Amino acid sequence: MESNEKKRILSMYQCTGTFTLGNYLGAFKNALRFQEEGYQCAYALADLHAITVRQEPAQLRKYTQDAYAFLLAMGIDLSKTLFFIQSHVPQHAQLAWILNCYTQFGELSRMTQFKDKSAKHADNINAGLFTYPCLMAADILLYQADFVPVGADQKQHVEIARDIAERFNGIYSPTFTVPEPIIPQHGARVMSLQDPTRKMSKSDGNNNGCISVLDDPDTIMRKFKRAITDSEACVRYSDDKPGVKNLMEIYSCITGKSMEEIEGEFAGKGYGDFKPAVAEAVIGELRPIQERFKEILQDKDYLQRCCRENAEKAGSIAQRTVSKAMKKIGFLPMK
Ligand code: TRP
Repeated sequence: MESNEKKRILSMYQCTGTFTLGNYLGAFKNALRFQEEGYQCAYALADLHAITVRQEPAQLRKYTQDAYAFLLAMGIDLSKTLFFIQSHVPQHAQLAWILNCYTQFGELSRMTQFKDKSAKHADNINAGLFTYPCLMAADILLYQADFVPVGADQKQHVEIARDIAERFNGIYSPTFTVPEPIIPQHGARVMSLQDPTRKMSKSDGNNNGCISVLDDPDTIMRKFKRAITDSEACVRYSDDKPGVKNLMEIYSCITGKSMEEIEGEFAGKGYGDFKPAVAEAVIGELRPIQERFKEILQDKDYLQRCCRENAEKAGSIAQRTVSKAMKKIGFLPMK
């Protein structure tokens, strides 16, 4: 049984806005790589997590649908990879409740994301924000994932998922695979084009700093031309040149060229040549995806069918884990 030997990867994405170039280069390109490398991959949109911050209903629906269509357009292959929407699979909420009872108040209080988010949304520090890591642990443990690719900011959440899994396995007997985080090395951190000391973010207020994966070519060109660099006018990779370093990383991630190759390519040239070249690379990368995205969005029946079939498959895998955990805890089985 070859498929049982394959390592399982699980990752999920919040869809509270249009995806950014940072999401694309940092997370999604790697997600495709894992799919091609033969891992058994499960990816999902974390819409249950999204409501820990208040969402406008029509927007949440649109962002979720767009996100699903975008990832399909990008190349998630449903014949290899499971790709579903978290709220379509009720076992996530079910196991999250159970894991809440195996997680300490003190552990959750130490989560840096909870501390940051409660400072940022002081008017809505809801219990969901606090127990967010238990839902994320459920996401991971339901599918018995070996590896969880996440950004550095989510590493602590994968670590608590490990702790919860080990604790549960220790109280009863091995039930959950203990997952390991994978933090992607390159292209992992795309920074704002306007403030290259900060991560590119759709909510950073300065729209020129952030490229959306759905931006049209003119917008992409304009944003790159306005990108903050420095006064040296030399394409050189250095920590002292955060703006240029960021542009080089974006260019490298798309073209596959090394930093030395890029320095060579632009030797003797200034930013007036370099910035449009980066923009063109990004435009060329996104154009075919945007075209497929538009086509997929027009076929609502296809989209709905993909969502439903994948939720059903995910649900049957998830149910096995939930049943196993419930039996160990001592819930009376319904016969
Ligand atoms: N919390 C993650 C984020 O904000 C998203 C997420 C939810 C996730 N569940 C997950 C990531 C499970 C990996 C595995 O980015």
